[in-house]
Amino acid sequence: MEIIIQPDSHEASRLAAKIVAGLVKEKPHAVLGFATGQTPIELYRHLVEMHRKERLDFSEVTAFNLDEYVGLEPGHPASYHSYMNEHLFNLINIRKDRVNIPFGLTDDIPTCCRSYEDRIHAAGGIDIQILGIGTDGHLGFNEPSSSLASRTRIKTLTAQTRKDNAAAFGGMDKVPHHVITMGLGTIMDCRTCLLLAFGPKKTRAVAQAVEGPLTAMVPASILQMHPRAIFLLDEESAAELQRAYYYRWVYDNKPAWQKY
Ligand code: PGA
Repeated sequence: MEIIIQPDSHEASRLAAKIVAGLVKEKPHAVLGFATGQTPIELYRHLVEMHRKERLDFSEVTAFNLDEYVGLEPGHPASYHSYMNEHLFNLINIRKDRVNIPFGLTDDIPTCCRSYEDRIHAAGGIDIQILGIGTDGHLGFNEPSSSLASRTRIKTLTAQTRKDNAAAFGGMDKVPHHVITMGLGTIMDCRTCLLLAFGPKKTRAVAQAVEGPLTAMVPASILQMHPRAIFLLDEESAAELQRAYYYRWVYDNKPAWQKY
């Protein structure tokens, strides 16, 4: 794992955008995995700005999103379809026929999930998956106790996650209980995992995922087994890392050819 601690979320988001944009420049037909939530919003703002000012071209990019709520119309303001359109897809030149988000209104969830896996495979796999982390350590919507080998499927949200996401729905009682999410096995197949975590609410989950034991009780700890997982943190979310000094030294002394 590469643990990068930046002074704040703004610096971290800027660096995340540089990493994603670097891939798109190098591989115009890259397959990008997107996440939702508060954390990646500034990263998406940077990508939009790079598209506008530097002509960063998304015309050949294929996108796959991590998850979606079951039972929400794609046009519902709190759906992840709406989120992605608002924060990114409507603001860059990505082709809508190359955008993939699980369809939460399907009446055949198992078939929908299998077809999502098939589409990822047919696209050649995901080059870089952007990830957040839940306050309960979830990855995508893989809640504690998720199988570490799971594929895209239906999951039931914990009360903690429904509480964390209540603002978008105007109350916890309105947050759906069920979601479709890429599994931990699906995420592990991505070539690079780029996890962003900011703020004091994430401190504990980050410490457990990075330095705790690998366990289904902290689903993000599966990234300890990933060949290329990058944790991009701010000072607050990194506050409980015992080896922060080492991670900083490693990052500050990377050989020139390894720098972003
Ligand atoms: P957040 O969500 O970015 O809104 O904190 C992260 C997550 O639940 O994975």
